[in-house]
Amino acid sequence: MKVTIVGAGAVGASCAEYIAIKNFASEVVLVDIKEDYAEGKAMDLMQTASLLGFDTKITGATNDYSKTAGSDIAVITSGIPRKPGMTREELIGINADIVKSVASSLIEQSPDVTIIVVSNPMDTMTYLVHKTTNLPKNRIIGMGGALDSARFKYRISEALDCPASDVEGMVIGGHSDTGMVPLTRLATRNSVPVSAFLSEERINQISEDTKVGGATLTKMLGTSAWYAPGAAVSSLVQAIANDQKKMFPCSALLEGEYGLNDLCIGVPVILGKNGIEEIVEIELDEAEKAKLKESSEGVSKTNGLLDLKK
Ligand code: 2OP
Repeated sequence: MKVTIVGAGAVGASCAEYIAIKNFASEVVLVDIKEDYAEGKAMDLMQTASLLGFDTKITGATNDYSKTAGSDIAVITSGIPRKPGMTREELIGINADIVKSVASSLIEQSPDVTIIVVSNPMDTMTYLVHKTTNLPKNRIIGMGGALDSARFKYRISEALDCPASDVEGMVIGGHSDTGMVPLTRLATRNSVPVSAFLSEERINQISEDTKVGGATLTKMLGTSAWYAPGAAVSSLVQAIANDQKKMFPCSALLEGEYGLNDLCIGVPVILGKNGIEEIVEIELDEAEKAKLKESSEGVSKTNGLLDLKK
């Protein structure tokens, strides 16, 4: 199992670290445009192998995609991250050109690769990869929902003063401050609805805190977060690498599912060796349907800013 991660910044490096620690991939290649940067991160990570006990071989490459040849899975984290006060949508101009060229270089070396898109605005970047490559739709996945759901579960566990492992919950919709749809109705503590423990007001607060989860950290850290994004990506990579058939909310190309068409947005999917093996259509109530519809309109508006003729 060979995994390429493009962008050896904080998110890319964290992702490589978690993949290595979980010890399921034989090889991880980090690629960056900055001279020696990916090689340096790879060397630093490899010097943890004897301490942490992993066998994954991590190497780095400065913009040399020949080193990525034969990758099973590739993660695109390249592009500029958000600065405090910026929305993910504001990154579109710069990141679209980068993501498009990275995707084409990856596919040239690994025609059967499965691509996980992390660069923001993520739903639109995922759509761009669908529109500008010939990869089958199951092999292009946007990572947002797994991260947003982890942040949702963190907020619930904080409110309940319980371990996050006691909590189940999912966030669907666009990966943006206004687009996320935390499914509070379905969130549980060990299968008991959280509404049994928390007031409606507290649940609404959890929902709002979840939606600005990334923005809150960007403000605190001065740049976009990396531990939870890296861990979320590593979970998706593992589900595909180990053919786990696990369900995650991911940005998938919709063709009628949830009444939506021609966009990528977060919905529950089953991840296995073929990438997105199934889009799961769960029963939403009227309010959730309306929120998802509104979220899709926001994503489509951002997609409209792409210059697909370039
Ligand atoms: C986030 O922290 C990376 O979009 C990203 O939400």
